[in-house]
Amino acid sequence: MEVLILPTAEEVAELASSVIVEAVSSNPRAAIGVATGSTPLATYKKLIAAHRQGEVQLDGIRPFMLDEYLDLSPDHPELYRNVLKRNLLDGVDVVSAELRCPDVFATDLLDACRRYEQLIVEQGGIDVQLLGIGSDGHVGFNEPGSSLGSRTRIKTLHTDTIRDNARFFDSLDEVPRHVITQGLGTIMDARHLLLIAHGATKADAIAAAVEGPLSASCPGSVLQLHPHATVIVDEGAGAALAQQEYYRHAWANKPEWQGL
Ligand code: F6R
Repeated sequence: MEVLILPTAEEVAELASSVIVEAVSSNPRAAIGVATGSTPLATYKKLIAAHRQGEVQLDGIRPFMLDEYLDLSPDHPELYRNVLKRNLLDGVDVVSAELRCPDVFATDLLDACRRYEQLIVEQGGIDVQLLGIGSDGHVGFNEPGSSLGSRTRIKTLHTDTIRDNARFFDSLDEVPRHVITQGLGTIMDARHLLLIAHGATKADAIAAAVEGPLSASCPGSVLQLHPHATVIVDEGAGAALAQQEYYRHAWANKPEWQGL
């Protein structure tokens, strides 16, 4: 796992977008796993700017959703597919039909989960999976206690997550209680995991994920087992890391040929 602590959230977004730009530059049809929530928004802005300025053509990417709410109407602005359309897809000229997502409107939701797993495999897997992290250590919506080998399935949101996400809704009661999320095992199948976080509210979760014991109690800790995981945080989110000095030293001395 490579841990990069950068001075600002802006720089986190810049570096995260550069990883995706590089992946798409070498494969215009790259499968990009896209997270939602507030953390990736700045990264998506950078990607849109790169696309508009002709630095890279992002209109051929194959986006795969990390997770999606259940029990919202198809036109609800907070349905993650709508959030992604507004904040990424429209800006990089990818039509909504290209977004690979679990079918949260299926009558058989268990089958929808299985089909999403199958789709990821059939399409050759995910090249770069962008991840945020919840204050309780969740990645995707794999809440504490999630099996480290779990696959795409329905999860009940933790009360902390419901409270955290209430800022996107008119009231706490409107936050869906259930989601479909890629499992931790599904996420681990991606070829490159890119976890980003900013702000002091994420400091404990980042420390537990990066340096804590490998444990279902901190689902993000599963990244410790991934052969290619990059964690990019700002000073606030990196503040509780015990090995900060070493991570900074390694970044400052990183051989240029190595890449991310
Ligand atoms: C969203 C997702 C979640 C968020 C996490 C952090 O697709 O999978 O794991 O990344 O809840 O949310 P923000 O970025 O809003 O703090």
